[in-house]
Amino acid sequence: MARTPVADALTAQVPVAHIRICGWVRTRRDAKGFSFLEINDGSCLANIQCIVDEALPDYAAIKDVNTGAAVDVRGELVESPGKGQKWEVRAAALTLLGGADAEAYPLQKKRHSDEFLRTIAHLRARTNKFGAAFRIRSEAAYAIHEFFRERGFFHVHTPILTGSDCEGAGEMFRVTTLPASGASGTPVPPSGNRFEADFFGKECNLTVSGQLEAEALAMGLGKVYTFGPTFRAENSNTARHAAEFWMIEPEFAFADLNDDMELAEAMTRTVVTRVLERCAADIELFDRFVDNGLIERLRTIAGQPFARVSYREAIELLKACGKKFDYPVSFGLDLQTEHERYLAEEHFGKPVIVYNYPKSIKAFYMRLNDDNETVAAMDVLVPRIGELIGGSQREERLDVLEGRIREMGQNPDDYWWYLDLRRFGSVPHAGFGLGFERLLMLLTGIANIRDVVPFPRTPGNLEF
Ligand code: 4AD
Ligand code: MG
Repeated sequence: MARTPVADALTAQVPVAHIRICGWVRTRRDAKGFSFLEINDGSCLANIQCIVDEALPDYAAIKDVNTGAAVDVRGELVESPGKGQKWEVRAAALTLLGGADAEAYPLQKKRHSDEFLRTIAHLRARTNKFGAAFRIRSEAAYAIHEFFRERGFFHVHTPILTGSDCEGAGEMFRVTTLPASGASGTPVPPSGNRFEADFFGKECNLTVSGQLEAEALAMGLGKVYTFGPTFRAENSNTARHAAEFWMIEPEFAFADLNDDMELAEAMTRTVVTRVLERCAADIELFDRFVDNGLIERLRTIAGQPFARVSYREAIELLKACGKKFDYPVSFGLDLQTEHERYLAEEHFGKPVIVYNYPKSIKAFYMRLNDDNETVAAMDVLVPRIGELIGGSQREERLDVLEGRIREMGQNPDDYWWYLDLRRFGSVPHAGFGLGFERLLMLLTGIANIRDVVPFPRTPGNLEF
C-alpha cells in the first residue's frame, strides 16, 4: 500500500478507510487505553495525530516509539473530535521502522538554539524551523526556474573547475590532484609532481562566478541563466558570507542597464509573490517565531516598485542623513552593509536599486558610461540584508574593454576568448548575479547564512 504524505492526509476532503502514514515521531503521549503520536514526515509543517489503541496486537511496540523514532502506521483517516486539526489517524497497525533512544536523541521537544542545531546539521531538517527553511529553499529554486522559463531564458551549465580568475570577484580555492591511495597504501607520486600538477599540469580553481561563460552562451542563445554553486575563499566570519553559495546568473543579449534592473526587480518580486503564496504555513512560522513583520515586508517587496537612485545620489543621501556610520561615506568608496541597510530599511523602507557606480570600485567588464568615471552597474539592496543582487551592462566595445583590462594591470591576452565575443558580432548585453542564500534570508527572516543552507561552508564548518 502506497504511503500518503501527511500534507495530503491533512487536506483530505473526505474520510479514508485505509491509509498509510510514515514519518518521525515528534511526541508520544500515553493516556488510559490509548497512546497519541504526533508524526511529521517533512511534507509540511504540521504533524498528524495518530491514536493507537492498547487493544491493538502491535501495542506492545509502543514503549519503543519515542521522540525521533520512525514509524509506519496503517489505519483509518477520521475526523478529529479535538480542535486544531480536521483529521487524525485511528491506527489499525503500527510498525516501528527505526527506534531512537530517548536519552540519546539530541532533538527533544523544546526550543534549541541555532548554534546548537548547527552542531547537529545532519538532524536539524527534522525540526520545524529547518524543515520550513528547506521547503522554502526548494520552492524558491523552482520559482526562479519558472520565472526564467516564462521569459524565454535557457538554463545553461557553466564549469565549476576553471583555469583563470577571470572575474576578480574574490579569493579563489585552488584545486590540487592527490595521488590515489590503492589497497597497498599510498603510491609514491612521480617526483616533483606532488602538489604542482593541479588539473593535469595546469593551475585549476573553483569558480567564483559563471558570468563570463554565461556571456559567451548568451551571444549564441540570446537569453540564458545559470543556477549553480560558486566558491569564494574569503575567510570572513559574517552572517552574510559563505565560502560556498549558490548563485543565479542571467545574461541576455540586446539589453542595457535598464533592462537589467527591470529583470532583477521582476524576478525578485515574482519569486517573493509565489513563495508567499505557496509556502504560507512555513512563512507564517518565521513571521511568528523568527522575524515579526516578515510577511508585511515580503508583501511590500511583492507589491511595490523598487526605489532607484544613482550611486552619486545615494552618497548624497548618506552624507545628509545625519546618522553615524562606522565606515566613511564619500564618492569613490564602496558602500558597506551598514550604508546599504540604511538606504533600504530606513530611507526608502523597501528595496532600492543603486546604479552607475564609480569604475574604480567595480569589475573591468562593466560598461563604461559617457562620463568616463562611472560604469553601468547596479546593485539591488534589500532591508535586513543589504546587497542581494549585483549586476551590470557589459562592455561590448573591444577597444574600451581592452583598455579597462590594461588599466587593472592585467594582460588582454589572458582574456582572448572573452575578447573574441567583442570581435565577432558584439552586441549590447547585460546580466546579474543573485545570491540564492541571501534571497532565502530575505524570504525567511533567518539572520545567519549558516541556517538557510543545509550544510554550510563557512570557516570551521566542514564536518557534515
Ligand atoms: O556581486 P557579486 O560578487 O557579482 C558577481 O559575481 C557577478 N559575476 C554576478 C553577475 O553579474 N553575473 O556576487 C553576486 C551576488 C551578491 O549580490 C550576493 O548576493 C552573492 O552573490 N554573494 C554571496 N553570497 C553568499 N556568500 C558570499 N560570500 C557571497 N558573495 C556574493
Ligand atoms: Mg557585488
